[in-house]
Amino acid sequence: METDLKQLKALQRLYSMGDWLKLPNFDCKKLTEEIQSFENQWPIYNPRKLKNRYGLSVTSLDGGISGVPDLDSLYEYNKENGTQYNNQSFKSLTPVYHASPELQKILEPYLPWLGRCHFIRLEPGGYFPEHYDIGKFNYDEDEIRLIGMVQNTDYYSFKFCYEKQVLTHLYDGELYYFNANKTHSVFAMDAPVTFLVITLKFTTETYETLVKNYVCS
Ligand SMILES: [Fe+2]
Repeated sequence: METDLKQLKALQRLYSMGDWLKLPNFDCKKLTEEIQSFENQWPIYNPRKLKNRYGLSVTSLDGGISGVPDLDSLYEYNKENGTQYNNQSFKSLTPVYHASPELQKILEPYLPWLGRCHFIRLEPGGYFPEHYDIGKFNYDEDEIRLIGMVQNTDYYSFKFCYEKQVLTHLYDGELYYFNANKTHSVFAMDAPVTFLVITLKFTTETYETLVKNYVCS
């Protein structure tokens, strides 16, 4: 119980620090080159809802990059197949991870808590409608998200709406913790947009690692 309380305090402190916490930058050009060999292997993200979106798995169920079921809607997939996958079910690192030292550098501090993780590519006009990412009724586990801005993620190419605002502070090569419990939507304008989604199981150690890596601006 004491551990639960400590973890709850850590989560409360993280939320009170801010909705966006900047983590160290990465070399987005190098990362893009390192995953280039997978160019023609990006499955459609959530094929049930076609919105010009593709994904590339960094973690998956079996270490493969088929995208099944990690790039599907887990809610829909579980309903259809009687499974109970959640973001922490996807812990096997894929060849995409192994192909990219830059990606490994980004993820290395967080590997103990890494769950579902993938690149998303929005082709022009691709989007995610407004949503929030929170296990609303799961009181047993908490989860947080990081996002890496990889390609064409500046304000002019990529509209990131967070609550009621369009963000203007995002640039390629940046990595953030962000509070995905709040509503957000994203939209690609004229160029393909690539970003990296990282889900982490939340523990006091996750919190302490984030705080140690947080780049105060
Ligand atoms: Fe989201």
